[in-house]
Amino acid sequence: MLKKDAVLKEIREAKDLKNLEQIYLKYLGRNGEITLIFRNLKNLPKEKRVKIAKEANALKALAEKELKIKSEILKKKFKKEDSVKKIDITLPGRKLVFGHLHPLTKVLREVNNIFSQMGFEIAEGPEIENEYYNFDALNIPKDHPARDFWDTFWLKQTNNKQPTTNNKSGKLSVGSCKLLLRTHTSPVQVRYMESHNPPLKIIAPGNVFRHEATDASHEFELFQVEGLMVDRKISIANFKFTIGEFFNRFFGKKIQFRLRPDFFPFTEPSFDISINCLVCGGVGCSVCKKTGFVEIAGAGMVHPNVFLASKLNPKEWQGWAVGFGLERLAMMKYKINDIRLFRSGDLRFLTQF
Ligand code: PHE
Repeated sequence: MLKKDAVLKEIREAKDLKNLEQIYLKYLGRNGEITLIFRNLKNLPKEKRVKIAKEANALKALAEKELKIKSEILKKKFKKEDSVKKIDITLPGRKLVFGHLHPLTKVLREVNNIFSQMGFEIAEGPEIENEYYNFDALNIPKDHPARDFWDTFWLKQTNNKQPTTNNKSGKLSVGSCKLLLRTHTSPVQVRYMESHNPPLKIIAPGNVFRHEATDASHEFELFQVEGLMVDRKISIANFKFTIGEFFNRFFGKKIQFRLRPDFFPFTEPSFDISINCLVCGGVGCSVCKKTGFVEIAGAGMVHPNVFLASKLNPKEWQGWAVGFGLERLAMMKYKINDIRLFRSGDLRFLTQF
């Protein structure tokens, strides 16, 4: 008869699952030693048969129990070791995921570069603007619809001494004007001319806000770039050349554009600037609404009243001003058909740039 202790010892000392499997086959397999005892029972005399059968049954049950226990132990052990072993130092390293610039930031940097190369300075103004700079100083009368609650985000002021932004620093100080989120970057024209003497050439990039219902081409937060050039003899010819040169450099090819009469209270004459739709090449598509042209900026010659508000003599100085929508430029450059994508935070969109 088999020695119980020897069988148990063997099981307990099994090195791994494969070894344990061999032990199982050795004793309990089809020709295993315990299996054979059962098979031979019929050859034994009756009195011996009962005794041996009893012992063999006990041994079988014990061996099965021990095999199960040992197999659990080994499985746990190898699971741990496996996870350590899986580090394969010959594998190439995991790629680091780097962030990258937002398409609007990219486009803004390009615009800044191009204008800087043409001798323009970069100026900034506050996003929380006061009524005076956003409207009055720009010759926008008190009853102009742009001042409406519906168009403008007015800020709630709780005391009578309403804070306003300081001319030069843009910091809040106590004054008497209502505050709002600026609806355009044009206030920077006046702020800059108040503190700098012409001749001057600046661009003023920044966020602007309008109370808009959003759709594929309208957002309530936009990025504008204001341009301003003031000197003693400045004409629309200067403007046309500068803007044409900007388009050519920005899009990297010769761009067809057109000026059409328009109206802005702070420029006279005023015009809108459209470029040939780059999505369809000017043939007509949904982006250009089948016209072949896309409006990209408003512009004009600085209105005498704006010079007066800036304490400059309009008889002495002339200038042009322009306001670009940066999103429009980016949409044309990258053929993007929905303005809402820029601020959606959607990585499927953002990682394409
Ligand atoms: N401020 C105007 C707008 O937001 C654009 C503009 C700027 C027009 C400068 C003329 C001159 O629509």
